[in-house]
Amino acid sequence: MARAEKRYVCEACGASRPRWAGRCDACGAWNSIAEEVPRTAPPRGLGQARGRVIELVPLDGPGGVTARRPCGIGEIDRVVGGGFVPGSAVLLAGDPGIGKSTLLLQAAAALAARGGRAAYISGEEGIEQIRMRAARLGLSGAPLELAAAIDVRDIATTLEEEPPPDIVVVDSIQTMYLDTLESAPGTVAQVRGSAQELIRLAKRTGTVLVLVGHVTKEGQIAGPRVLEHMVDCVLYFEGERGHQFRIVRAIKNRFGPTDEIGVFEMTDAGLVEIPNPSSLFVDPERGPVPGAAVFAGVEGSRPVLVEIQALVAPGPAGSPRRTVVGWDAGRLAMVLAVLEARAGLRLSVCDVYLNVAGGLRISEPAADLAVAAALASAAAGRALDEGAVIFGEVGLAGEVRPVSQGTARLKEAAKLGFARALAPVAENAGGEAADGAGIAVTRLTHVRDLVALFPAPPH
Ligand code: TYD
Ligand code: MG
Repeated sequence: MARAEKRYVCEACGASRPRWAGRCDACGAWNSIAEEVPRTAPPRGLGQARGRVIELVPLDGPGGVTARRPCGIGEIDRVVGGGFVPGSAVLLAGDPGIGKSTLLLQAAAALAARGGRAAYISGEEGIEQIRMRAARLGLSGAPLELAAAIDVRDIATTLEEEPPPDIVVVDSIQTMYLDTLESAPGTVAQVRGSAQELIRLAKRTGTVLVLVGHVTKEGQIAGPRVLEHMVDCVLYFEGERGHQFRIVRAIKNRFGPTDEIGVFEMTDAGLVEIPNPSSLFVDPERGPVPGAAVFAGVEGSRPVLVEIQALVAPGPAGSPRRTVVGWDAGRLAMVLAVLEARAGLRLSVCDVYLNVAGGLRISEPAADLAVAAALASAAAGRALDEGAVIFGEVGLAGEVRPVSQGTARLKEAAKLGFARALAPVAENAGGEAADGAGIAVTRLTHVRDLVALFPAPPH
């Protein structure tokens, strides 16, 4: 029989190796490798012992479609795909202090207020502290059940009591402790083991399990990334320090879309939903500023307007700076190269700074044209028409490509008081009723047309 061999596991990335080392060769972290003694290794192959026969059932049977359980906070329900799925495990990851506990206390209380049974288990705060927070959030009257506990065995036994709760929040998975493992709470083995037990329990009882996970400085869910593979849905809770708003973003979702965002504002009385985020990312009173362009974007099922800001300054010869916040650096390099090669805009000698206002992160290629407009405007020192929004993808030949949901983008812009739009030629000719949105659209086919909007000032 195989001997249970010691393994050495990196606490930062979860990589395992046969020997200890000072530095993990998978993720480069120092002093992150700890010994892990696996439970007795299983025998090789199945051998002679027979298992029991598993019952196989037809695909279409009762219970195939489980009703979702919305918590009543619309921004959360939409991000998870229209309410939580019973028996599913959700991981809410984010920086310490971003508002995870606040959000989940509010969500659990909202669900309890709608008649569900909700439990909030904290390994980080005492009952008194949770009550204080609830009072601050105006939730004191909610029929929410609280516990301060870290022992997974105790938690499991408690949750198996009838009737099982509809939702259990475990805050945080890094504080949980499984007594069958020797390592300390927060280590890879403990996080993985505790999560496994809790998820198994949730699947059995049909409870929605929401785990809180802290993110390390490097942006990884502290301890193991393995947690992401174990849960059904991974939500990131993001926000910039110094900004009041917070974004919940689905990174993985077995039961819904992954491009939805939920937007909140952190106030004195907790997180407040922002059902119309465009108002947050665009300041209609701003006035004309060179280097600013309003991008008509789409996040998930919702159009969102965001201001893109560029600053172009003469740089030291040889190594110009490229600093990007909220967008992809590679994509910026591409747009810069296209502007230079196809429209003659020489930016390779300049420092370029690009910022998505408000701290939002954009991944849509449809932002290319807005980025190009911000850059061209900054380079020329001339403001773009302040009443205009802009969207479109840019190809390497300099062509402006159509993007999806053009009408939704235009409608959102019209709703926010924009009168004009710079957009690609509509994908399905005639299918996009631009005037129906009450907005005048200038169709661009090449980045040259865009750069021509900013004639360089006479030298
Ligand atoms: P918290 O939910 O404790 O963060 P996490 O669980 O992600 O570590 O939120 C902590 C921050 O939120 C803290 O800086 C104070 C702020 N906050 C408010 O601004 N208003 C509130 O009503 C609450 C409860 C917290
Ligand atoms: Mg917390």
